[in-house]
Amino acid sequence: MAEKRSSYKSLAKTLTWEDGVLTLLDQTLLPVEVVSEKQESIEQVWDSIKKLKVRGAPAIGIAGAYGVLYGVKDKTDLPVQEFLAELKKSADYLDSSRPTAVNLSWALKRMVAKANLIVTEKPSSNSKDIYITLEMEAIAIHEEDKQICKNIGLNGKGLIKDGMGVLTHCNAGSLATSELGTATAPMYLAHEDGINFKVFSDETRPLLQGARLTSWELQQSGVDVTLITDNMAAFMMSKGEVDLVIVGTDRVAANGDTANKIGTMGVAILAKHFGIPVYIACPSSTIDFETETGEEIVIEERDPEEVLFFGERRTGPEGMKVRNPAFDVTPNELITGFITDKGLVEAPFKENLKKAFG
Ligand code: MRU
Repeated sequence: MAEKRSSYKSLAKTLTWEDGVLTLLDQTLLPVEVVSEKQESIEQVWDSIKKLKVRGAPAIGIAGAYGVLYGVKDKTDLPVQEFLAELKKSADYLDSSRPTAVNLSWALKRMVAKANLIVTEKPSSNSKDIYITLEMEAIAIHEEDKQICKNIGLNGKGLIKDGMGVLTHCNAGSLATSELGTATAPMYLAHEDGINFKVFSDETRPLLQGARLTSWELQQSGVDVTLITDNMAAFMMSKGEVDLVIVGTDRVAANGDTANKIGTMGVAILAKHFGIPVYIACPSSTIDFETETGEEIVIEERDPEEVLFFGERRTGPEGMKVRNPAFDVTPNELITGFITDKGLVEAPFKENLKKAFG
């Protein structure tokens, strides 16, 4: 009888929406504690995004869509134009929490556009009607993400063959999405198909998403995962242990330049040196056709304390100058292809991304 494998299906949910309440798995506590936190206000949702309780491009988009509802749920007695102004204010406020992942502003713009569309299509709508439609829109964004991740998995799983070593950086996993993940979706589905492969999870300094989150969720799901520190990737590659790199993304410019967690560009440069293919797992909501090249992508700079401490332990001197860019941009020429919900996209990226999604 075939051995029953552990599955991603039993992982704790990144976020849920029930009876008008958003609940987030607090990712800052993983892997030590698995605790979910009910969100009570738009300010709390802003803070949860800022502090990375919820993180990962698709997940912050979904959290933003639900979060904006908190900003207007007590405003449904207002006349429509005032309600729309409050909605826009709430969307702008949440958008200010993190700048790099386009999914957040994408989801917020979609919510605002939906409200305006209802008013145009049905001028008799009142603010309560608009709120109800907005709640349905946020749920739709959440549900669509599940199908998008599934499609990324189906389109990418064929890249993973028996005996391969697959390296990933940061967490573009179930925790970064509604479920299944983007970079991890091909891994989970290949695992489900009985393919035997190893994953190397980069630790991902300074906030250790690879160590705390990716290695945790893959281990929980029964995928063979090995944790390495970021500076070990070159060694593993030089020893022939890595055959494939799959990472996620926060924003893809029209020409294929790709922002992802700081360190991704270094991994791509190493992979090029060792002749290892690099794939970016990418939902349609992460492609930003309004941004021509990676040069234009705003890179979030975070609190120096994140670099000066390793967990609770201070590792840098008091008063030390620090840089803490949270993302870098991998130039398109280092990328082999994009694993998208519409299929694999190969170079030339400008033309082919447009063809697939434009
Ligand atoms: O700072 P984070 O943890 O939100 O960074 C997350 C990443 O860089 C992910 O790789 C990216 O958002 C893709 S998630 C599917």
